[in-house]
Amino acid sequence: MDDGRLLQSEAAHCSFGDTVHYLEPPKIFSRCEGSFLYDEADVPFLDLQMWYSAVNFGYGNPRLNAALKRQIDHLPQLASQYLHREKIELASALAQRIERTFGMTGRIHFNVGGSQSIEDSIKLVRNARSGKSLMFAFEGGYHGRTLGASSITSSYRYRRRYGHFGDRAHFVPFPYCFRCPYGKRRDDCNLYCVDQFARLFDSEYHAVWDAKAETSEFAAFYVEPIQGTGGYVIPPPGYFEKLKSVLEARKILMVDDEIQMGFYRAGKFWAIENFNVKPDIIVFGKALTNGLNPLAGLWAREELINPTAFPPGSTHSTFSSNPLGTAVALETVQMLDESDYETMSFAKGAYLLQGLKDLQRRHRIVGDVDGMGMALRMEICGDDGFTPDRAMTDRMVEIAMSGNLEVGGKRYGLVLDIGGYYKNVVTLAPALTITQAEMDLALLLLDQVLERAARH
Ligand SMILES: Cc1ncc(COP(=O)(O)O)c(C=O)c1O
Repeated sequence: MDDGRLLQSEAAHCSFGDTVHYLEPPKIFSRCEGSFLYDEADVPFLDLQMWYSAVNFGYGNPRLNAALKRQIDHLPQLASQYLHREKIELASALAQRIERTFGMTGRIHFNVGGSQSIEDSIKLVRNARSGKSLMFAFEGGYHGRTLGASSITSSYRYRRRYGHFGDRAHFVPFPYCFRCPYGKRRDDCNLYCVDQFARLFDSEYHAVWDAKAETSEFAAFYVEPIQGTGGYVIPPPGYFEKLKSVLEARKILMVDDEIQMGFYRAGKFWAIENFNVKPDIIVFGKALTNGLNPLAGLWAREELINPTAFPPGSTHSTFSSNPLGTAVALETVQMLDESDYETMSFAKGAYLLQGLKDLQRRHRIVGDVDGMGMALRMEICGDDGFTPDRAMTDRMVEIAMSGNLEVGGKRYGLVLDIGGYYKNVVTLAPALTITQAEMDLALLLLDQVLERAARH
């Protein structure tokens, strides 16, 4: 079928509920390699978002693809009630790495997607805190679209129409310093936002703390170390340390959602390592299999997840710890042990951030740029450099996706993703394997997109 007939068929037979449908018509791609997607006319689209950071190691990564092919010929199917070597070795590798990094023992639990693993973490938290169902989470936070995950995700848009399944979280302002929710300035605020959170526990009249029983009504705080869908917002130094000390004093667990920022996206294996705190639970997914299999999972401290606390059957999915997923994930983790991805992510990220700063100097519509490792942001604003300009951001994506950009006499497209509280942030998550020439091409293409969008 050609693209026109495919689109007609999609309009008639595909649910739109599982897609974004930002672009009209949506774009159809037919193959991918490295940092590029190719459309039917074989126009290369340089991808700067890599399936929302699921493909950190490049499309068609030969080593990871080979691991999948080997497993298909070896042990492709196995019910979760039985064991296979790859699952055990993968869990050991992750748990041992976390023990080396944070000095804590724990266990790994698998499931079939980020949201499902968030659901599992909610069970762990409720179980460990005597069934308490109230959670703190951040404004701008995103933890998935299943019912439980939506209840701790800030956007009401994802809950509207479905009623309440569980208690929705109490949403706390994230330290979004470019748009500080308290109107403070980063250089002299002394982390006023954490003081505001700590204040909730000063008196029982602030509705979260029973001073006599010395217990909080809230079981856990769900955090993304760097907000993903919220627009790659990076918290200031010291923020998480101060927040964690409040949580520890009040016996509230910290659940670290690394689904988007894990696996070196933000320079370190886990993004939270940048902020000098030890989480109680880590949830991961996406890049674990480089997008080849929906395997995801969590790590939890031994006290929370030992077989007495969380016995067999506490959660189950037919496809959790499936052999194809665990085989690729094991190869990913081994690959990450063998090369210095940390240096690579910080070095390439620094180069790109410098390029973004240069673009900011030359294009008035770029209000803010920031980055940590290979998680980078570009905020598109009006003439005052601050008012979010959503329409301009949409125009940029339209131009980028048109596939009509040109560098060195060759046609290109550019795959961009929009995030942020006001949908005016271009969130950049290039492949960690991107080459120097591709980074330079990315900056040239962004320059062209900004120029054309502003001229419109
Ligand atoms: C931080 C974060 N948490 C949870 C999820 C949900 O994961 P999934 O889409 O695999 O269900 C996502 C997905 O974008 C995410 O970015």
